[in-house]
Amino acid sequence: MKKKTILDLRAMKSKGEKLTWMTAYDFPMASFAEQAGIDMILVGDSMGMVVMGYEDTIPVTMDDCISHCQAVRRGAKNTLIVGDMPFMSYQVSDESAVINAGRFLKESGVDAVKLEGGRRMCSRIKAIAEAGILVCGHIGLTPQSSGVLGGFKAQGRTVESARELILDAIAIEEAGAQFLLLEAVPPEVTEFIVSKLSIPVYSIGAGTPCDGQLIICGDMLGMFQAFTPKFVKKYANIAEVTVNAIKEYCDDVRNLKFPEDKHVYHISDDISEFEKLFKEFE
Ligand code: KIV
Repeated sequence: MKKKTILDLRAMKSKGEKLTWMTAYDFPMASFAEQAGIDMILVGDSMGMVVMGYEDTIPVTMDDCISHCQAVRRGAKNTLIVGDMPFMSYQVSDESAVINAGRFLKESGVDAVKLEGGRRMCSRIKAIAEAGILVCGHIGLTPQSSGVLGGFKAQGRTVESARELILDAIAIEEAGAQFLLLEAVPPEVTEFIVSKLSIPVYSIGAGTPCDGQLIICGDMLGMFQAFTPKFVKKYANIAEVTVNAIKEYCDDVRNLKFPEDKHVYHISDDISEFEKLFKEFE
């Protein structure tokens, strides 16, 4: 499969083909996603909650993101990868935003970066885009500012909140973002935003009127056990399969059922030669 580019994303949008997008944080998941034919991977700062055990995404650092992006790139060489800019890697200034976005591309080989926030982040988006880096905007439920939002809450459910989202979406496109992610937004508002923009707009919990869907691997595969957002469909229960497999392994070891003869290496010289060797040490 050939790695998609922004031109493919635009072509898919104009043909009405839905893009498939999921998160991955490590080599095996990236390689599984590529084998399954996913169009795009996000190395989200959700790694903080899904694979690092934090309660939110705030503690995730640039170094964490770079090293996870490197592993994902090794696992999915032919897939378009978006690196998620962690909290405080772009909030302080346009200059630090460009430096950190550049680090992503130079040190981990991702193809694009994503950052959260609407109009207040437009000068960052503009600066990164002007440096020649593909940028994805992200509005709606923005987990890095969940404190200000009062928790992981859907956005755009009231007219006033929808107005803010529409203004943010338009400003993000004008600032130079090449695509946009809407998180936890009612489909009616999503549909209107999509009709107002010319860039591809993707959804995580924003319904079907988008150009494609994103899902978090830990949610769709049943690996993340703390909570399941309303917008998640579970396609597997890896936690259950894994716990059962480990229980079976423990059982086998305790009851001498593992390892079996087929799991050991056999000697290649005659046993009598080994007996002589062992005698030397008696
Ligand atoms: O970090 C992430 O996976 C994200 C999604 C929640 C959109 O930003």
